[in-house]
Amino acid sequence: MSQRVLVTGHQGYLGTVMVPVLRNAGHDVTGLDNGYFADCVLGPEPVDLSNLPVDLRDVTAEHLRGFDAVIHLAALSNDPLGALDPQITFDINHHASVRLAHAAKEAGVSRFLYASTCSVYGAAGRDLVGEDAELNPITPYAISKVRVEDDVAALADARFTPVFLRNATAFGFSPRLRADIVLNNLMGHAVLSGVVRVLSDGTPWRPLVHAADIARAFAVCLDAPADVVSCRAYNIGTEANNLTVAQIADAVCETVPAAMLSITGESGADPRSYRVDFARARTELGFDAQWSVADGARELYEAYTAYGLTTDDFGQNFTRLARLQALRSSGSIDGAMRCVSAAV
Ligand SMILES: NC(=O)c1ccc[n+]([C@@H]2O[C@H](COP(=O)([O-])OP(=O)(O)OC[C@H]3O[C@@H](n4cnc5c(N)ncnc54)[C@H](O)[C@@H]3O)[C@@H](O)[C@H]2O)c1
Repeated sequence: MSQRVLVTGHQGYLGTVMVPVLRNAGHDVTGLDNGYFADCVLGPEPVDLSNLPVDLRDVTAEHLRGFDAVIHLAALSNDPLGALDPQITFDINHHASVRLAHAAKEAGVSRFLYASTCSVYGAAGRDLVGEDAELNPITPYAISKVRVEDDVAALADARFTPVFLRNATAFGFSPRLRADIVLNNLMGHAVLSGVVRVLSDGTPWRPLVHAADIARAFAVCLDAPADVVSCRAYNIGTEANNLTVAQIADAVCETVPAAMLSITGESGADPRSYRVDFARARTELGFDAQWSVADGARELYEAYTAYGLTTDDFGQNFTRLARLQALRSSGSIDGAMRCVSAAV
C-alpha cells in the first residue's frame, strides 16, 4: 500500500540508495536532512527529492503531520565520529532521535522505523548473536543506539508501531559514497594505490550487508503487520556475510588485478568482533539479504574505476570524520555541528 514516508538522513550513504527503492515500491517520499554530505557525490547525481532542511534537533510535530511513517536514518553515523565529541553524538543520535519519535507519535504517524546497528552487540566472540543476546555496546555511537531502542519502545501502543532494524555494516555503491566502512575502504585503497591495507590483525569478525539490501528491509518493514513487528528488533544481513576482516580483504584482492595484501596490525586489538544470526528477519519478515561480499566488491571496483574515484574525494568528501572536520574548519557548521551557512 502506498504510504507517505518521511526519511531522515536521506542525503546520506544509505538514504541515497533507499529513496529510489521506496519510490519504486509506490511510496510518496519526503526527505529531512541538514546536508552534511549533500554535495559529496560520485557518479550520477541522485534523484532530487523534496527536503525539509531542518536539523534533527529542531524537529517538531508540525513537521511530521500528514506522514504515515518515519524512517529514521539521520545520525552522526560511526564510531570515530562518536569519539570526536561524545556529547554531540548523544545529543543528535540519542536525545534528538527520541524527541523525533515523540513528535511523530504526537503528529499521528503510525510507524517509526529506526536504523539501529549490529554494533550494539560489541565484543561477542565467535558464537552467533541473535536479537535477544545480551547487548554490549562499547562506543558512544553504539550506546546511543541502545538507548534509542529502549526509549522509543516505551512509546509503542495500538497507534504507534516502532521497529528497530539492527543493520550489519553496510557495503556497496551509493552515489553518496562512504569510504569509512570496511569493504568500501579496502576497495578504495586497492584501486587508488594497489595495496589492500588492513590496519588490524585481520581476525575480528564483521557482519556485512549491501546498502540495497538494507533499503529493501526497510521497505518490507513499512508493509509488515503491526502485530508482528511492533517493538521488535531485527538483525539485517545474512550469515554468509559474517566474515573476518582478512576474508573481506581477500575478496578485494580477488577482484582488483595485481592488488597486494598488507596486514599491518598497527591499530592494535579491535574489541569489536561479532558474528550475527539473521534468522528472525527471515522467519518473521520473509527477508534475506541477497548481495554477497564478492558481488559487492565487483560492483565497487567497477564504480570506482568508471566514475574516476580520486584520493582527495576518498579521504575527504567520502570520509565522514574528515568531511565534518572540514565543514567545521571552513565555518560551515559550528562547534555543535549546526549549519551556519548556505554552503551546507
Ligand atoms: N552505513 C552503515 O554501515 C550503517 C550500519 C548500521 C547502521 N547504520 C545507521 O544507518 C543510518 C544511516 O547511515 P548512513 O551510513 O547513511 O550515514 P551517513 O552519515 O551517510 O548519513 C547520515 C545523514 O544524516 C544527516 N544528519 C546527521 N545529523 C543530522 C542532524 N542533526 N540533522 C539533520 N540531518 C542530520 C547527514 O547530513 C547525513 O546525510 C545511521 O543512523 C547509521 O547509524 C549505518
